[in-house]
Amino acid sequence: MKENDFKMSIGVFDSGMGGISVLSELIKLMPNENYIYYGDSNNAPYGTKTVEEITKLSINACDFLISKGVKAIVIACNTATSASIKILRNKYSIPIIGMEPAIKPAIEISTDKKIVVLATPITLAEKKFENLVNKLHANEKVIKVPAPELVEIVESGDINSNMVKQQIQHYFCDINMSQVGFVVLGCTHFIFLRDMIQEVIGKEIDLVDGNEGTARHLKDTLLTLGLLIHKNNNDTQVKFFNSIDNDKILNLSKQLFKYITNSNRHI
Ligand code: DGL
Repeated sequence: MKENDFKMSIGVFDSGMGGISVLSELIKLMPNENYIYYGDSNNAPYGTKTVEEITKLSINACDFLISKGVKAIVIACNTATSASIKILRNKYSIPIIGMEPAIKPAIEISTDKKIVVLATPITLAEKKFENLVNKLHANEKVIKVPAPELVEIVESGDINSNMVKQQIQHYFCDINMSQVGFVVLGCTHFIFLRDMIQEVIGKEIDLVDGNEGTARHLKDTLLTLGLLIHKNNNDTQVKFFNSIDNDKILNLSKQLFKYITNSNRHI
């Protein structure tokens, strides 16, 4: 891919590897687009940083993507969205699409059951989350579970070990699961642990995430602006960048991408 070919791609950004799960959903829905992924693994995790720090890092990442000539940016990170989406939208003139923990779909289906939201400490503590829960009148239903350890696990790439299962079990040990109908994955890193989380909570409890909603939001936005590529492109380009610029991290990004797009379940 020549440098010029990046122009009019879709930029996707996350604190590290998590947004690769969103990237996979974007490609499913918009297969004719080209994509540039930027992971800020050098500064991950974001979920335990201050709002000011996260905003600064998010601006750096968006500046990088803008310098490549992208036509839209997906903030594929619930934490960065909570902390800085307003500032980013004010700063840049291209569409900036964020993430939102998928409480709404869970509320629409769930009757009297509780909804566990697994996310980073910042996402759960921010005003944006409180506003969402209030808007949906879900205060009584939502159980917040901060799970920063899972971010580090995904960043290390060691997603299948027994230790991961123990960590997930630990989050749920004090919750009466017979009252729970849904678990919302409110962090894009956790999608890589979906199978193991489902194994721990059991098949009767539904797992939901916001990836598809974000992909639909971007597609609608590009359609409205006349920016969506309709012409069949059998050669979609995906280019990975990371703030840790070495082969190990770029290879892990590609392995996780293959894993999540189902072309290779073992990494
Ligand atoms: N992937 C990010 C999210 O969706 C956060 C991970 C982090 O703490 O860096 O919230």
